[in-house]
Amino acid sequence: MTKKIEAILREEKLDVVMAALRDIGIVGMNVIEVRGHGRQGGIELVGRTGSYHVDLLPRVQLNIVLSDHNVDRTVDTICKAAQTGNIGDGLIFIYPVDEVVRIRTSERGRQALTYAGDIDTR
Ligand SMILES: Nc1ncnc2c1ncn2[C@@H]1O[C@H](COP(=O)(O)OP(=O)(O)OP(=O)(O)O)[C@@H](O)[C@H]1O
Ligand SMILES: [Mg+2]
Repeated sequence: MTKKIEAILREEKLDVVMAALRDIGIVGMNVIEVRGHGRQGGIELVGRTGSYHVDLLPRVQLNIVLSDHNVDRTVDTICKAAQTGNIGDGLIFIYPVDEVVRIRTSERGRQALTYAGDIDTR
């Protein structure tokens, strides 16, 4: 089975998370800038003219499609690298993926998810 990990992270944690993932052999990924809020519904900022509410906070979304036997290790690695212990550290969502197709070769499934030197070849 193939899964997709969608991790919402603090922007300043992206570099350290990517380095940690590289160390365990995660190769293919996709990063998107997003704005959102969790259960606190944004934050209250105090400025010179008073305080105001910011609804949507900038975050990065890191997407990785991988074999399910690598999911736990990858999620643990992301958590360790991304955690500050403060509210707003982010969330990780895990989805099933029906199919993967590498366009250049028309390879499908596991073949399309094989990368030289990746987590499965270590
Ligand atoms: N239910 C959700 N669905 C989709 N995206 C979400 C959801 N909740 C949070 N997010 C995204 O994740 C980001 C970080 O959320 P956040 O870490 O604040 O989660 P939380 O559940 O409020 O946990 P905490 O109490 O640690 O703050 C949000 O800014 C938003 O982009
Ligand atoms: Mg929150």
